[in-house]
Order: sequence, then C-alpha cells, then structure tokens
Amino acid sequence: MAPAESSWWQTAVVYQVYIRSFADGNGDGIGDIAGLRARLPYLARLGVDAIWINPWYPSPMADAGYDVADYRDIEPTYGTLADAQALISEAHGHGIRVLLDIVPNHTSDQHAWFRAALGDEPGARRRYHFRAGSGPNGAAPPNNWQSVFGGPAWTRVADGQWYLHLFAPGQPDLNWDHPEVRAEFEDILAFWFERGVDGFRIDVAHGLVKESGLPDTVRPGDAEQSLVQSREGHPAWDQDGVHDIYRGWRAVAQRFTPERIFIAEAWVPSNERLARYLRPDELHTAFQFDFLRAPWRADVLRAVVDDAIAAAGTVGAPPTWVLSNHDVTRTVTRFARSQPPHLIETEWERGRWAAEHPDHTVGRRRARAAALLQLALPGTAYVYQGEELALEEIEDLPAEVRQDPTWVQSGFTDVGRDGCRVPLPWTATGAPYGFATDADAVTWLPQPGHWDEHSVQAQDADADSTLNMYRAALGLRPQLWRDAGEVKWLSAAPGVAAFERGGAQCWVNTGDTEVELPGTASVILASAPGVGDVLPPDTAVWLRA
Ligand code: NOJ
Ligand code: CA
Repeated sequence: MAPAESSWWQTAVVYQVYIRSFADGNGDGIGDIAGLRARLPYLARLGVDAIWINPWYPSPMADAGYDVADYRDIEPTYGTLADAQALISEAHGHGIRVLLDIVPNHTSDQHAWFRAALGDEPGARRRYHFRAGSGPNGAAPPNNWQSVFGGPAWTRVADGQWYLHLFAPGQPDLNWDHPEVRAEFEDILAFWFERGVDGFRIDVAHGLVKESGLPDTVRPGDAEQSLVQSREGHPAWDQDGVHDIYRGWRAVAQRFTPERIFIAEAWVPSNERLARYLRPDELHTAFQFDFLRAPWRADVLRAVVDDAIAAAGTVGAPPTWVLSNHDVTRTVTRFARSQPPHLIETEWERGRWAAEHPDHTVGRRRARAAALLQLALPGTAYVYQGEELALEEIEDLPAEVRQDPTWVQSGFTDVGRDGCRVPLPWTATGAPYGFATDADAVTWLPQPGHWDEHSVQAQDADADSTLNMYRAALGLRPQLWRDAGEVKWLSAAPGVAAFERGGAQCWVNTGDTEVELPGTASVILASAPGVGDVLPPDTAVWLRA
C-alpha cells in the first residue's frame, strides 16, 4: 500500500537531541534550551530535517526526565516555556521541524496525580495501579513482574498497598482504563501542538495497556525484563487494547495543520506486531530496532533491511533506520568488538560486552560505513547526537558519577546507559570542550580526556572527518536517495551488501578482504579514503551506476 501523497516525515533525517548533553547555555554543566538554540545553525548546516528532543518537562530526574512531574511546563534546569516557544520558532526558521518526547506509560512520583494518590483524595489511586500485596500480611508484591531496570515492578507505600512501576519506583504506571488519563493526554498533545510542535516520539508506546487482572507471567524467563527485548504474550506489553488509545491521538493530530505526526517507541517481538501500530488511523511511524541490534555482518544487515521494508510496507508506512539512541551502546563501540552471527538480543547487558577490549579504530570505520548504508535506504533515518562525530561509548565512568537508575536497581551489576549520554565536545580545548559557556563548568557526566580530536572544532577543520562525511551525505541524500524507489540487491561477494536505488548504488563491505567495484561506476562518496576500483574492508561507498 503506497502512501497517498508524500510528506516530509516519510523520508526525513531526524536528529535526536539528548538535551542534557547537547549544549549548556548557562554554565551549570547541564545542557539546556539556550544551548540548543545557540547550536541550531550547526544542525541546519548538518542538514537534518527535524529534531527529536528527549523529555524537557519538570522532573525529579529519577530517570533522566522520563519521570515527568508536569507535562505542560519546562524543567527549570533547561529553561522556561518562553524559551521553548522561541526554540520552536527558531528551529522552524531554519527549516527544522521539532518533535517532542511524550511519556504516557508513567508519571513521576512527584506528579500532582501521584501525590494525590498518596494523600487522601478519594479515588485518586485509580489513575495508577494500586493493589494489595500477596502472601502473609500482603508483604509480597501483587504479582511476579520485574522492573525493566531490575528488581520487582512494585513498591509498597505507607498504608501497605503496592503500586506498579515497570521502570523506576519514581515512575508509577498510569492506569489507561481510567477515562481521565485518556482525556488528560489528548489535552497535553493539543497543548504542544498549539505551540507549533510538529509531532511526538511516544515513549514505551507498547506498555500503556496491561492484561486485565495483572496476571503473573507464567513462562520461564518472562519475569526478567529488558527494555530492548520483548517477549510475545507478556501481560505487561503490546496488548491489543493499546491501539484504541492511538486512534484517539490520531484524531487529535488531525485537528491541526500543517500535519502533526507520531513515532512509536515500541520494543515488540516482530515487525509484524510493530506494523499494527501504523495502521492508517493510528501512528505515522515507529522505530524499527533490528538495525541497531544487528551485528556488522552483511547477511544479517540485508535480512534486517528486507524485513523492515516489507513489514512497514504492509501498512503503507515508511521503514525507519536507527543505529543508536540514548538507551544503547554507541555504534562505534558496538562495532568495536567481535560480531556475533545473529541479532544482538542482549546488547543491553553491557557488562558482558565490556569483557572484550574494544578496538575503536575498527568501530569507527564500521560506524561510518553503517551511516552511509543507513542514509541510502528508503524511509526515515534517526541520527543520535554524537553519531555525526563518531563518539564512542564511555565505558569507564567512575561508579560515583553514574546516574542511570539501572545501576542501582540491578544491584550494581548493570552499569546502564550513562556511557552514551556524555556531554558533546564542541571545541578542541579540553573538558568541557565548549559544551558549557564557562570553561570551569563541571559537566553532569565527566567527559574523557582525549575528546579534543573528536570535537566539532577539530572535525570542522578536517575534510575527511566523520562530521564532514555526514554533512556531505545529508547534502547528497535529497537528490540521490530520497525519492529513488525500491532497494534492488546486486550480486556481491560474501560479506558484502550492495544495492541500487534509482541511478545510484550503495556498497558495504563487512568482510575482511577488499572487493572489486563495478568498473563502470564512479564514486560519489566513500566512508574511508582509498576507494577507487576496490572497496576495502569495513567501508561503504555511494556510486553512480
Ligand atoms: C524508553 C526511554 O528511551 C528510556 O530512556 C526510558 O528509561 C524508558 N523508556 C522509561 O521511560
Ligand atoms: Ca545549563
């Protein structure tokens, strides 16, 4: 099914702004709206079509802003509602659309609703999932569900009841069977649409509705949760009832022009399940995460590409390509270790990864090649801040600076996601590398000592830098790939994936020997120097056929 008419979001390159770590405008070491506004020209020059900003609402930061205390305001550390309004119009002035992050599965425990639930407001607990405990004196949790971050998904309050939190205790799950919850979120969407926001990325879009009665999980292994894994038939996830919510949201979006859009973050077991979120009266697109779980192996990448395109196509949605985000190991480091022959299901378990020494030189080569593959594919591409600088995961953060709740909730066995959230290096001047206006600023996570060479300033001056490769690729993408039609695979040596779209070809060599390129084609852009007649290992190239 082809979309009726083509819209910007069907082929967009969306840049993910992790606001805490993008740029600091006031010298407190924490990124903010002022910092982002000052760097909009950087994003315009990079050539992105839209930005997605991670949650910027008032939050006690139990989970880096994914615990929202007030959905209609701005976290004071980040700025004010007036700053947000200015950012939206300035971004639009640069031709950049603005997508926000909406967090509907849970609120903060400091949200007015949850405070009321702990107070004496009659009925207030029905907006959440409060239950009596099980076992003698109700001293055990109501069911056997585990939190995604580790430990039981239930916390007991003073009067003995328990509340459900699939994530941190500071993130109580909302009860989406309650009509007030439904009405409130439709109103929040309209609040931001009225302020010019172009759409929303929906946090844990597959979690809102739970199987009624909140039954125990019965299959072995199901109690253990992981954000990047989702088990079919688990009572906490991907319930059919969730789709009705999104039909309501779509109707809200339809009230506005220009078009307002939704992107689902839904870790469901298959692209078939994902496609259900994208039926014509539901959401517009969804992250397809197999690409960010795929090892650096041509055969796997090819299968992932085919599956993503086919599944999205069944509902007329564009495929989407994500190499990394603020929840997973940075691409450079993911590709810096040996590559398993299958999808990396347990990528989340960073400890296992850290046991093998990463070769970041190899990782960078592969990450650059992966970027050229990503940007040549049909559909939308997401670039997580710092990917354009080929930053690596910072795996040796000292325990005392770690902030991800995963670290504590896992009993200090899973270091969590801080290593991909380190503040960006802008200048080659040592920490804080121009991240903060004030050279003495202490960044909220420490930056490594060797990031001068990866800073924007250093890469600006180097024609072969990753930053300049991204700029060139994004500059070429509109005429080369954007409307180029279907992927036609070309026959190629083992370890190589090659396809043609329109008059251009993309070749990717994941193997360990160089391969010959077609003699009749000319190189448009390569991920590494030295590409002419042959394509070296861990390299990608765009060719004109
Ligand atoms: C997914 C977000 O990307 C992640 O950062 C967050 O911890 C969980 N959802 C819970 O909101
Ligand atoms: Ca700041």
